Amino acid sequence: MSELLALATAIAREAGAIARARFHEPRTIATKSSPIDLVTDVDHALDALVRGRILDARPRDGLLTEENRAHEGESGVRWIVDPLDGTTNYAHAYPHFAISIGVEAEGRREAGVVYDPMRDELFAAARGRGASLNGRAIAVSKIAELKRALLATGFAYDVHTRRTPNLDYFERFLSHAQAIRRAGSAALDLAYVACGRFEGYWELHLSPWDVAAGLLLVEEAGGRTSDFDGAPAPATGSRTVASNGAVHEPMLAVLRG
Ligand code: IPD
Ligand code: CA
Ligand code: CA
Repeated sequence: MSELLALATAIAREAGAIARARFHEPRTIATKSSPIDLVTDVDHALDALVRGRILDARPRDGLLTEENRAHEGESGVRWIVDPLDGTTNYAHAYPHFAISIGVEAEGRREAGVVYDPMRDELFAAARGRGASLNGRAIAVSKIAELKRALLATGFAYDVHTRRTPNLDYFERFLSHAQAIRRAGSAALDLAYVACGRFEGYWELHLSPWDVAAGLLLVEEAGGRTSDFDGAPAPATGSRTVASNGAVHEPMLAVLRG
């Protein structure tokens, strides 16, 4: 596993360096599922780079990246990659985004890296071996009351056309938590729970590449992950809750209403 983590780290750093180098250049921006679901030329460039690096080094592994078709593997190992998490931020030159690389073996999360190139912060985790930030061990925060908790969430790209229940959840948490952030990168939201900057995070409609690395970071940093009912967090990213553990049940209670 340390070999996989080392490879994920090297690839995330290489992709991150490109995102950082191109950060002040003009973007080519297109839309995907809706007019607010953006994709930039840098998303595509990073996707191609990460894909190439993984398939060169590990041709028998499976691979799922956001901007490309899935590659079926035969080794039992699968890489799940968001080449640029925080695309809307990137498109606006708002410097908060990350490269997220998760590795699973036989369907179980085994390693994960989330790299923020603007702050040069590399979050890494391997199952049973803890989580780290730039090589130093990290742990979730100890705050146990929701009213002292800083929480995070996000909204899917269909908010213009569908009334999302997340507006109700947001409103409820506003009156229970200390404050809420919507920073625009699910992978960093999870990494921030892992290192104790956020006490908790919830989001309804994520995708596998948003959570593949981040959920393992939270678990390995001593936190708890689940769906909105307290069942194991699905790899699909649907109805995700992640916390320091101490505020988890209070968060589930607020979500239940
Ligand atoms: C998005 C970000 C955002 C979250 C959305 C994601 P993208 O990913 O993680 O914070 O709220 O649900 O789709 O499109 O920037 O890779
Ligand atoms: Ca994403
Ligand atoms: Ca993305």
